[in-house]
Amino acid sequence: MEFTTIVDGKARHAAGCAVVGVYENGELGLAAGRIDRQLSGLIGKLHASGDFAAKLGDVLLLPSPSGAAAARLLLIGLGSRASFTRKQYRKALQSAAQALAKTGATDAVVYLCLEEVPDLDIHYRARFVAEIFCSQSYKIPDLKTAPKPKKRGLARVVVAVADARAAKAADDGLRIGAALGSGLALSRDLANLPPNICTPTYLGTRAQALAKELPSIKTKVIDQNGIKALKMGAFLAVTQGSDQPPRLIVCEYRGAKKGTAPICLLGKGITFDSGGISLKDPAAMDEMKFDMSGAAAVLGALRTIAELKLPINLVVIVASCENMPSGGAVKPADIVTTMSGQTVEILNTDAEGRLILCDAITYSRRFKPAAVIDVATLTGACIIALGNHFSGLMSNDEALAEELKSAGLRADDRAWRLPIGEEYVEQLKSNFADIANIGGREGGASTAASFLWKFAKDLQWAHLDVAGTAWLGGAQKGSTGRPVPLLVDFLINRARAT
Ligand code: BES
Ligand code: MN
Ligand code: ZN
Repeated sequence: MEFTTIVDGKARHAAGCAVVGVYENGELGLAAGRIDRQLSGLIGKLHASGDFAAKLGDVLLLPSPSGAAAARLLLIGLGSRASFTRKQYRKALQSAAQALAKTGATDAVVYLCLEEVPDLDIHYRARFVAEIFCSQSYKIPDLKTAPKPKKRGLARVVVAVADARAAKAADDGLRIGAALGSGLALSRDLANLPPNICTPTYLGTRAQALAKELPSIKTKVIDQNGIKALKMGAFLAVTQGSDQPPRLIVCEYRGAKKGTAPICLLGKGITFDSGGISLKDPAAMDEMKFDMSGAAAVLGALRTIAELKLPINLVVIVASCENMPSGGAVKPADIVTTMSGQTVEILNTDAEGRLILCDAITYSRRFKPAAVIDVATLTGACIIALGNHFSGLMSNDEALAEELKSAGLRADDRAWRLPIGEEYVEQLKSNFADIANIGGREGGASTAASFLWKFAKDLQWAHLDVAGTAWLGGAQKGSTGRPVPLLVDFLINRARAT
């Protein structure tokens, strides 16, 4: 999808569809007022007659009203002006994108960015248009055999802004939003694919394809022998029950000077988590194909950053394998030696994410990173704590935690800080090894993160537990692409600061 801006009022913009906002008290959005006059009060009449209540999310499509420049007019209900904030604005955009997709329009002019939204400048108002319109047009890579409808769909979106200065900020926002849309689509595609297709080998191939497409990325895929040579004993323990070979995927993006310390993004890439010998319940086990959502998110963020040519250095590390039961699988009570040298008693083979990530954290040290952020669908306990609204955020660095938290707020992809500390490490005591891989039911998200912290001690490190946010279950089952928006906003902000 292509996005551009026009300065409102300069010309009547002819398009397949004009999208304007109306408040529920009948107050018209800025452009809607003018268009209403051109249409001799048609919009006002529709509201007064009760045909268009303009509740938040209401839509009404008017085909080619006489006097209109556009072939169609799409009215979007904005709800009450007093409560029109970021959330309502995003909802209005979602309704607009959804309704537009059902029309035959291939281009549209959107007037919604002209509305004032508290704490949302024109840059973000435009960024959200591109992000939400791209997300709306996302199609799951399904394997349904029925022929796909060959609809042309929306290809060009013009965003009306108040003046030339706003146009500059909006253009920037649209560029970022579109790149974010492309990173989100990659992330969602990878996560939505079935686990017999999206294997560790497949993830490696896709990471190589990404490097081919975007030459600022260099990808290295390390196989089982390479992982052995690196002495990643914890990672190897998780993969040993599977017939699929593991992959350690390393993508380096250079946008800044050679000596600039990179940000390392680490992703949990369990392409299927059966629990291993500590086998999971059958209910919803299929959703454990999404256990590589952390990996998908860091690759998605990488794609966005490379498309934007952001002036930072970024290293993406994905540890990918399956967690399966077999005669050769790792057992409860097995003790392994991690790459760091610390030994781990594996008391529950279903706590596998922390095992592959602790070795990935140790591996990241060779890049002398400015910060290390791991992204993982790590614990069911995090879902119990935060539901599906916030990702869990843990860090040993106050400033980094604050940066990530505010990036999540700005990007509307929020994270909530949860604690780590020695109290939780205490729960991970083992009589037989340096540390156990589980610490009881209490504070499960924090014990998991504190396990990782033991391996990240002197690094500036943060952990995002996206178990509750990376995908939706039920009728809407599918990947959300979270936390790509948070990561991208964080990295853009870092690039500005340096
Ligand atoms: N991938 C799961 C966490 C998970 C479960 C994410 C459900 C989303 C939905 C992880 O590997 C796991 O199994 N964690 C265990 C840890 C426990 C054994 C200490 C859990 O949360 O039950
Ligand atoms: Mn597990
Ligand atoms: Zn898992």
